[in-house]
Amino acid sequence: MANLQTNFIGIQSPNPFWLASAPPTDKAYNVNRAFEAGWGGVVWKTLAEAGPPLVNVNGPRYGALLSPDRRLLGFNNIELITDRDLEVNLSEIIQVKRDWPDRALVVSLMVPCNEAAWKSILARVEDTGADGLELNFGCPHGMSERGMGSAVGQVPEYIEMVTQWCKHYSRLPVIVKLTPNITDIRIPARAARRGGADAVSLINTINSIMGVDPYSLTMLPSTGGLGSHGGYCGPAVKPIALNMVAEIARDPQTAGLPISGIGGVGNWRDALDYIALGAGTVQVCTAAMVYGFKIVQEMKSGLSDYMDEMGFTSIDDFRGRALPTVTNWSALNLNHVSKAVIDQDSCIACGRCHIACEDTSHQAITAIKDGKRHFEVKEDECVGCNLCTLVCPVPECITLRSLAPGEKDLRTGRIVSDKHEDWSTHANNPMRVSV
Ligand SMILES: Cc1cc2nc3c(=O)[nH]c(=O)nc-3n(C[C@H](O)[C@H](O)[C@H](O)COP(=O)(O)O)c2cc1C
Ligand code: SF4
Ligand code: SF4
Repeated sequence: MANLQTNFIGIQSPNPFWLASAPPTDKAYNVNRAFEAGWGGVVWKTLAEAGPPLVNVNGPRYGALLSPDRRLLGFNNIELITDRDLEVNLSEIIQVKRDWPDRALVVSLMVPCNEAAWKSILARVEDTGADGLELNFGCPHGMSERGMGSAVGQVPEYIEMVTQWCKHYSRLPVIVKLTPNITDIRIPARAARRGGADAVSLINTINSIMGVDPYSLTMLPSTGGLGSHGGYCGPAVKPIALNMVAEIARDPQTAGLPISGIGGVGNWRDALDYIALGAGTVQVCTAAMVYGFKIVQEMKSGLSDYMDEMGFTSIDDFRGRALPTVTNWSALNLNHVSKAVIDQDSCIACGRCHIACEDTSHQAITAIKDGKRHFEVKEDECVGCNLCTLVCPVPECITLRSLAPGEKDLRTGRIVSDKHEDWSTHANNPMRVSV
């Protein structure tokens, strides 16, 4: 069985699956049960400075985007950071770390943006025996209105400054958790690196409103008739997070900076996507909240089976392996040609591909042949856009075939070239580079 052991910025964990800072890691009761289920690590629910505990709303703090069969696609929350007393949290962290020495225990922090506040809490956390710190510069609701969370994460100078304080006042490794509510994720990641961060983690949640009640015409979810934008997460955000992870991993200024990938991880395949794009660990919140802690068992066995099948003996064997395949549009080969192919044996003649292609693509799929329903690709019209393969309800019934060099593209009448030609050198580009 493949070895899932992970060393992330010096923090050891038996597998790369960590629970993200959120309700699943809110208290010792949860974290003990999560470790019993097999999680490799946790990032404790974000701690606040000492003082009167924060107060959450006593109404619907969660909202969801559900598929028609009620599977959760996206999740939204207006929960604050921990609303439990600092002393209680710290004593539970001490106990949990003592009881589970082989698991990663990282403590998430969010205190006001002044040096004294950070200095004071850093010393307290170091005394717990925790393995690392995660700086929550990401929460987009509630705390940001008080000048914390994403209010810090949206100002690179603040990120750099607070990270420097943490590196100065603590010996623990520092992970900076980034907000996706920003135009270019590379900017805050560079600031974190300048501040001395050992790693970044991303994404925190995306600003969102779930909808409106059609009869009361109030936003949803609402607390007694008023709502507030909340943080969006769950399966729907994974592609956004993956792009941000890849952007940081391939940016020359942050390349090599360790990354903990977060957003929509629900199974081993999701984790593989993050690791292949450069993440060293993944963190999970929504999936654990919806399906429970035991989902980690499938994650571990699935990833381990995959690694055995591929001949990988460690996570590092495939970490970042997909990165060289991520490029800019301008570097894509415009001489490449694909055509859709329909497998007539598995086609159930539902007609969805025809409707999609006929109404919104290239009118390249038949509906009737010899007076009967028949769905076949017209290669002289198909541009290989992939829409039909995505709408077909039968897996693998429609596939895309790459034309080999020397074959004729029936749509353009051109012979497919074996030469790579992208937009930077294309004849139609007035700004082309001569080669
Ligand atoms: C209810 C809820 C509370 C959260 N609280 C925190 C928090 O206290 N600190 C933090 O850094 N992130 C918090 N998050 C964000 C998660 O840690 C995570 O970044 C985000 O949910 C994306 O992961 P997911 O798609 O697996 O849920 C919270 C998320 C949810 C849903
Ligand atoms: S790939 Fe696009 S153009 Fe070709 S048949 Fe499918 S939907 Fe039509
Ligand atoms: S969508 Fe798929 S199953 Fe339906 S007609 Fe097209 S190829 Fe056949």
